[in-house]
Amino acid sequence: MFIYAHRGASALAPENTLLAIQTAIEHKVDGIEFDVYQHQQEFILIHDRWLHRTTNGIGSIESMLLEQIRLLDAGKGQHVPTLREALECIGDHCQVNIELKGVSNIPNLLKYVDDACLQYGIPEAAILFSSFDHHLLRTLKSCKPSARIGALTASKPLDYAAFAQALEAEFINADVTFVDKNFVFDAKQRGLKMGVYTVDQPEDLVKLKSWGVDAVFCNNPMNARLALK
Ligand code: G3P
Ligand code: CA
Repeated sequence: MFIYAHRGASALAPENTLLAIQTAIEHKVDGIEFDVYQHQQEFILIHDRWLHRTTNGIGSIESMLLEQIRLLDAGKGQHVPTLREALECIGDHCQVNIELKGVSNIPNLLKYVDDACLQYGIPEAAILFSSFDHHLLRTLKSCKPSARIGALTASKPLDYAAFAQALEAEFINADVTFVDKNFVFDAKQRGLKMGVYTVDQPEDLVKLKSWGVDAVFCNNPMNARLALK
């Protein structure tokens, strides 16, 4: 079962920072997931639109200039990284899951990621785009049919993974709270891979593996690896 470091190795370093990414790489994770917001022409790693939970700033992302956001402390002296910095840091070490939180310009994002991948030696196949915004995923897929996408859900829909199949997703990534055997079976029947977030309990990891789940998103990927040995 593939292990993604969730928001980087976020149990060991401030989430969505270069330190969390470096820590995950040092521990040889299979992949790294992080959250992305667009700020004018730039893309930055941050989970919340409001700055106060993960930085020493207040207000929303869009209320500040990029230069101001970049001066904030995101924990342990880390700054809010740009997507380019994150991709440079990861290089060809592992897979990358770019979760789109607040992104409005998909063509710009795709060009930005393509350019960075070229520059830092990241194969296109290493990138998985995901989002809870399924409209955004549909736009992304129509702009770039070869893009790998993961459709996120925090629910167990009546028709299970049908929405992800309709989006031509490679993965359906679902909340551990609502994943059961039937959900995994349905995804598999549709030819989808199943990812589950956020999983840090050893019992859950072992159970999900036994159900044939393909990937898990873990705040502490090192403990997850130990639990699955
Ligand atoms: O991509 C899986 C997971 O990260 C989605 O939830 O809130 O942690 O971004 P969240
Ligand atoms: Ca995320």
